[in-house]
Amino acid sequence: MTVPNANRTLIIEGGHPLRGGVSVSGSKNAAMGTMAAALLVDEDCTLENVPDIGDVTHMAEVLRSLGAVVEKTDSHTLRINAANLREYAPPTQLVGSLRGSFLVMGSLLARLGRAACPPPGGDVIGQRPIDVHLAGFAALGAEVTREGGKFVAQSKSRLTGTTIFADYPSVLGTQNLMLAAATARGHTTIVNAASEPEVQGLAAMLRDMGAQISGAGTHTVEIEGVDSLRGTCHRIIPDRLEAGTYAIAIAITRGEGEVSEVCLDHLFSLISKLRQAGVSVETQDNRMSIRVDGNLKPLTVQALPYPALATDLQAPMSVLLTQAKGVSYIHERVFDNRLLYVNELRKMGAEIVTTGTTTAIISGPTPLVGANVRALDVRAGAALILAGLAAQGRTEITDTYHVERGYEAINEKLRNMGAVIEQA
Ligand code: EPU
Repeated sequence: MTVPNANRTLIIEGGHPLRGGVSVSGSKNAAMGTMAAALLVDEDCTLENVPDIGDVTHMAEVLRSLGAVVEKTDSHTLRINAANLREYAPPTQLVGSLRGSFLVMGSLLARLGRAACPPPGGDVIGQRPIDVHLAGFAALGAEVTREGGKFVAQSKSRLTGTTIFADYPSVLGTQNLMLAAATARGHTTIVNAASEPEVQGLAAMLRDMGAQISGAGTHTVEIEGVDSLRGTCHRIIPDRLEAGTYAIAIAITRGEGEVSEVCLDHLFSLISKLRQAGVSVETQDNRMSIRVDGNLKPLTVQALPYPALATDLQAPMSVLLTQAKGVSYIHERVFDNRLLYVNELRKMGAEIVTTGTTTAIISGPTPLVGANVRALDVRAGAALILAGLAAQGRTEITDTYHVERGYEAINEKLRNMGAVIEQA
């Protein structure tokens, strides 16, 4: 699997419309929860449709550090066996930079009665507290303390089901509590749970492992704890964020192409907004065909929890709207500092002003021109790639290891559709 390299630079020669087709890989964010779930049992778990990306490689290292065997049986299949799970505290340097790795807390607490992790790192997109996770563990009966830079959750006896109110419908928080509660004694209800498809994906895997979980996909998740779980084979859901990114890439280059292997149900908000912006989106089975005929229209975009438009597609949408005729408004309502990429886009000629850290006003259309810019996180980096594809001239994007953390073979997939893009 791809190992992230800190000095990655991409060179794009813009102005080539994307044509043809692109197939979407398995979901990065769903992979994190399902890999953590494999720690709950001492039998094999096989994960299929695993994306070949940096974050998966990283998460595999986290699981190995705990004693699990993680083996890649083909390019997109992982076999995980946690029969010899022995460590309750993964090394700080491994988990500190991967937010999803905090999900091992729920599984370790359930399986070993003890778990310790430093505050999880991840992208610089705003404050990212973990009170929902920790309060939930405590409600299930764990003692939660902070010791030497790590959060420690422990329970001498089996966790006990209860009703948990999540202050915020946190995606990882909901998943962590599902992992912890699957084998708790009695019934757990998570009120104000996240309903994202990645939560639904984890619930599906846990059910296949013998858990009794209902309500995933709504804001109330019910879990009847079971005495034990078993290994399973689970197929990871398609990456709706990667799908959205490619749909926008085709639209912004005024190309024509098909994005396949998607789950259309998960893309309703994106498809609605693209159509509202004047993009033709035709859907069938697990595919969407994208084309732009006339002018793009301006939009108001609100990034909110599912089923609203995903915060992870907010930056790519902003780039598209630089090409719309009129004034667009972007409201980021999930994270409190996820507009930092705007400065990079301005270097390429975008007319964007921000008011505070959560609203951006975009005037368009403005021709984008190639520039030297920096990828600040995985989605901001993807947004700059889209800008580079649409820009006249040469764009050089540094720190694209962020993008490789989350997008499988993005250069190759774009090149197959006619993009001129290469690794420096
Ligand atoms: N929040 C709290 N308390 C908590 C947890 C979160 O108040 O205990 C707040 C955060 O401050 C933030 C909001 O809730 O304002 C959303 O955070 P959430 O916990 O839902 O995000 P996350 O679970 O840490 C996952 C994805 C993110 C994605 C968000 C929102 C993974 C590994 N990460 O993060 O993905 O943006 O959900 O959908 O699943 C990405 O892929 O680029 C990415 C950042």
